[in-house]
Amino acid sequence: MEPCEKQIINTNLDKLIPNTSCNTTFLDLLQASGVFNNVDVNALNAHSSNKIEQVTQFYKLIQTKAGGYQMLLKVLKETKQTGALSILNKIPSQYDPSFHYDDDATARLGKGKFGTVFKGKWKNRKVAVKRVMHTDETKKARIENEVDILRICDKHSNIIRYFDIKNFEYFDLIVLEFCDITLKHWVADRTKVQIPRRNIMKKVTKGLEWLHKRRILYLNLKPENTLLNAEPPCVKLAGFASSVRLKNGEKVCQVPLGVIDDTFCFEAPERRRNSRECSFASDVYSLGSLFLFVLTDGRSNLKDVESLGNLENTMNETNEANKCVNDILTIKSMTLDDPQSRPTSSELLSTSIIFQRYSGEDDMQETDDFNHPTDPPLLRFIKHVNHSKFILTKNENH
Ligand SMILES: Nc1ncnc2c1ncn2[C@@H]1O[C@H](COP(=O)(O)OP(=O)(O)OP(=O)(O)O)[C@@H](O)[C@H]1O
Ligand SMILES: [Mg+2]
Repeated sequence: MEPCEKQIINTNLDKLIPNTSCNTTFLDLLQASGVFNNVDVNALNAHSSNKIEQVTQFYKLIQTKAGGYQMLLKVLKETKQTGALSILNKIPSQYDPSFHYDDDATARLGKGKFGTVFKGKWKNRKVAVKRVMHTDETKKARIENEVDILRICDKHSNIIRYFDIKNFEYFDLIVLEFCDITLKHWVADRTKVQIPRRNIMKKVTKGLEWLHKRRILYLNLKPENTLLNAEPPCVKLAGFASSVRLKNGEKVCQVPLGVIDDTFCFEAPERRRNSRECSFASDVYSLGSLFLFVLTDGRSNLKDVESLGNLENTMNETNEANKCVNDILTIKSMTLDDPQSRPTSSELLSTSIIFQRYSGEDDMQETDDFNHPTDPPLLRFIKHVNHSKFILTKNENH
């Protein structure tokens, strides 16, 4: 057994003893694997009347065996000894002083479909540690894909930084830049990160443009994967496990069915069509949904926008209403059914006025507004138009 593996056992022995059972199946499996021989098993069975002594002797013995640690993890898993397994899967700080993470509930930053993310320390830096189980080849391939993409892209200020990966028998730990909050949480409490809404939208678009210029389809843009930092305020895209790197000349890719999750509203409709063909325009669709999410604090969706009807000819009221109409038209163009009719991320950045605030509106006003969780202007507008239409239809029906 490697010295670092012995160290993990010895520093945690007091916790391992009550969590390990040297039952018959456990010892049989270790014997069948070739790690233990007949003499070893008989010696341990001689202590069967004193469980503490038996487990203590067991951990002494296994440390003398080559490949013992990996086999121990495997057999603990097969005999469902999850307590001991979680202790041995942990990385004690004594083993690698530059890296440490806590995997208890209080240190948990979030959980997605594929990984659980915890607070950690890496080379004296506060980091996020994404733990991803690789129980089968598909999961292994997803992790490799995510790390490959992070390695290429993390130079951009709107993409999460990747620091390191630590490989274990049953899982990998991806060490990432730490962020304070996701966009999903931010819309519910904007005081935690004081950043204007349109600034977030612009930063996300810049991150997406950067990915697209490197021929990467993100395919996972949603509030849970959009992270925010308070000091200094900044925006970072994360969650690249299902992203795809297109080869030169390729314009679309077929998304395997298994990758599609149920993030309704952020997923482009072409992902659900028979061909399941995705392109850069699929990300733009998600971006349009995300803009609506940000501008309405997550309290409206594309169905509400659809029900507003055609607003092209309504540019006549106040400045604020005009701006809202423009927001709606931009979001509508980005979420058109036909992917080819949507603007590109570069076109949005160079021509769209969606990133500009209302005339007369400045950063301070937006900042003042952080403490007043009133309806944002676009939400007020959507409610107003839909309400007026409702009154109109009601009167017409009478
Ligand atoms: N760098 C980070 N800092 C803080 N919290 C994070 C960080 N990365 C992820 N999280 C939190 O953990 C959650 C899950 O992370 P992530 O999105 O990377 O995993 P996933 O959803 O399983 O995978 P993917 O999004 O690639 O399909 C996020 O929604 C977020 O709440
Ligand atoms: Mg995610």
